[in-house]
Amino acid sequence: MAAVLQGQKLLLGVSGGIAAYKAIELVRRMRDAGADVRVVMTGNAQRFVTPLSFQAVSGQLVRTSLWDEAAEAAMGHIELARWADRIVIAPASADTIAKLAHGFADDLLTTLCLATTSPITLAPAMNNRMWAHPATQANLATLRERGVQLIGPDEGAQACGEFGPGRLSEPEAIVAALVMQVRQDVRPPTGRDERHA
Ligand SMILES: Cc1cc2nc3c(=O)[nH]c(=O)nc-3n(C[C@H](O)[C@H](O)[C@H](O)COP(=O)(O)O)c2cc1C
Repeated sequence: MAAVLQGQKLLLGVSGGIAAYKAIELVRRMRDAGADVRVVMTGNAQRFVTPLSFQAVSGQLVRTSLWDEAAEAAMGHIELARWADRIVIAPASADTIAKLAHGFADDLLTTLCLATTSPITLAPAMNNRMWAHPATQANLATLRERGVQLIGPDEGAQACGEFGPGRLSEPEAIVAALVMQVRQDVRPPTGRDERHA
């Protein structure tokens, strides 16, 4: 694939859902597109896939906890929030979406989302009734109002055996949508100082 994300520093947040395994392929495709990718996993994401898998495909250490004494000696979470040109959460669970909508910061990923001034993109994935629930839809409306961008979800057969909206978009489609978002981003990649002033 052409290096259409060349120079983009993407922080991929992986939250706890059955589609977390697809995020491994997503990292590969982001890197194929030229992006520099670092991965942060929630505690529950690690119940579905291991940090080692993401370390292998990203070529970087994976952060899994806010309470990493070595990384936090220099306020690593703030450094990571500054580093990212964009935070992409895929899959974004209903729980993580709810936390973001309400400004929770009780783990590394949600803390980073509050500490960043860079754009945030969510690729939700969940059971179709969780997706349709008024609580989830209200949380998404709140996040959209704040400028958070969404990719998907797709509609189709789900891991739970049901059919409907809530499937994680395919990694290839997520990268294609990210390319569009990056192109539409009014802020140049070199505008970090202004963003963090
Ligand atoms: C087998 C299994 C599959 C799950 N799949 C999903 C899912 O696809 N989407 C979702 O929002 N929650 C899913 N959940 C529930 C989340 O894992 C749960 O809400 C968790 O608290 C999410 O934590 P996190 O957002 O901090 O990662 C699943 C739970 C189990 C046990």
